[in-house]
Amino acid sequence: MIYKDKPVYNTFGLEAVAGTYVEYCSAEELLRDIPDAPRPWLHVGGGSNLLFAHPRFEGTVFHNAMNAIEVLSEDEESVVVRAGGGVVWDFFVQWCVNHGWYGAENLSLIPGEVGAAAVQNIGAYGAEVKDIIERVETLDTETLRERAFSREECGYGYRSSFFKSEAGRRFFVLSVVFRLSVVPKFNLGYGALKDIDSPSLTLAAVREKVIATREAKLPDPEQIGSAGSFFMNPVVSRQKAESLLAEYPDMPQYPAPDGMVKLSAGWMIDRCGLKGYLRANAGVYEKQALVLVNLGGATSEEILALANQVIDTVRDKFGVTLHPEVQIIKKG
Ligand code: EPU
Repeated sequence: MIYKDKPVYNTFGLEAVAGTYVEYCSAEELLRDIPDAPRPWLHVGGGSNLLFAHPRFEGTVFHNAMNAIEVLSEDEESVVVRAGGGVVWDFFVQWCVNHGWYGAENLSLIPGEVGAAAVQNIGAYGAEVKDIIERVETLDTETLRERAFSREECGYGYRSSFFKSEAGRRFFVLSVVFRLSVVPKFNLGYGALKDIDSPSLTLAAVREKVIATREAKLPDPEQIGSAGSFFMNPVVSRQKAESLLAEYPDMPQYPAPDGMVKLSAGWMIDRCGLKGYLRANAGVYEKQALVLVNLGGATSEEILALANQVIDTVRDKFGVTLHPEVQIIKKG
């Protein structure tokens, strides 16, 4: 279905209108609409990780509305499930938990949809969505052919994938195939989840704990505009991490691939005294410094000015450069 001048929902609550908006419920529908879609193109999910720097996107915004979930196979160990890219992510998690399937529960309550989850490799509480992805089914918008990518071909890293790269953008995610465990397998290494007592350890209990932890720290997009973590946690060399630790012995640090070290951007922003800081109608969230919020009526300029102030302040104090996790959409 093609719409003209359609507002694009985004959890930051910023004004954004697409000159052309294509919502498709099947690959056939997408193929039919592509010839009438002016460029540039932007493929969006639930709008929970976007910052529209301009109130109008003159090209085409595509939205996948494929929302079926189907079981493809099941054996004694695992079940293989296909979910349309337009399925609301947390609905999928709830569905897995209700069926007694393990692997998605730590990712409860993350806003957004299945397709975008696979593009961004969403993660929380020691889990990443790549851990349960079997393959990603896409439409190559150049050849107009469908193409499936195995997990290895998706090139997953921390909040990154091939689909986020320049070469990967032409592949629109249609659906995602997941493999979940039917035998109990919990991932409770992360702080807050360690406290669940073993007699009450169930999938539902883990989901509830994750939801409670998120609700305590992260704003509800229905109440306060935000896009979750605004910045990625920076990854630095071991040498840099050691010198920071010598100066700040309580700095959280986590091992990252290739001998690198991941730092906590939220902790650094907090240490700069910026938690709860307000600038015009934008702010650093008072309960989690990694989240920038729209306190009502903020413009994209106000949010970006605040983001730049945070980047400069952290760089001056720690010598580390933060990069946005949020996708900033320039004028179309
Ligand atoms: N911290 C502070 N002050 C703050 C925020 C954090 O001192 O204001 C400290 C915490 O005490 C902790 C450390 O920093 O020692 C890490 O904080 P937290 O566990 O809250 O996680 P995070 O690294 O800030 C990441 C993800 C979140 C995810 C949480 C939980 C990124 C960019 N963010 O945040 O994901 O929910 O871990 O696993 O990786 C998102 O991507 O939108 C998101 C919310």
